[in-house]
Amino acid sequence: MSSDLRQQAVAVRSRAHAPYSKFKVGAALRAASGAIYAGCNVENAAYPQGTCAEAGAIAAMVAAGDVKIAEVYVVAGSAAPVPPCGGCRQKLAEFGAGDVPVIMATVEGVEQRTTLAELLPGAFDAGFLEG
Ligand code: THU
Repeated sequence: MSSDLRQQAVAVRSRAHAPYSKFKVGAALRAASGAIYAGCNVENAAYPQGTCAEAGAIAAMVAAGDVKIAEVYVVAGSAAPVPPCGGCRQKLAEFGAGDVPVIMATVEGVEQRTTLAELLPGAFDAGFLEG
């Protein structure tokens, strides 16, 4: 069920710090353990220092000792469901297999479902570091 993920993503989105873009994003991850971790975008007056919602949720997950993502939910105030940015696709792929569902949603509740593999085909992963 993704309704618990949605509820947490919507709640954390309300706490986003997005005074520059005015574009608030909330992300919630279900770890393989069953625990849910949420994050929002945190912008900065030095623009490149801002961080995405997905990055915040991943940091919360890793800090709590979980390293395996089972499901991802992202919500934003856009007209159409918001896809994770390229950098976040790579960050998510570090902790999730290709078949992990990614649900992208609007605040109004329109949802679009995809997977990590569809979002990041041909991903660079740790396997390539082994030579
Ligand atoms: N943003 C996210 O938090 N996640 C995404 O997947 C797309 C973009 C944020 C970054 C920035 O604070 C704002 O949305 C506008 O790009």
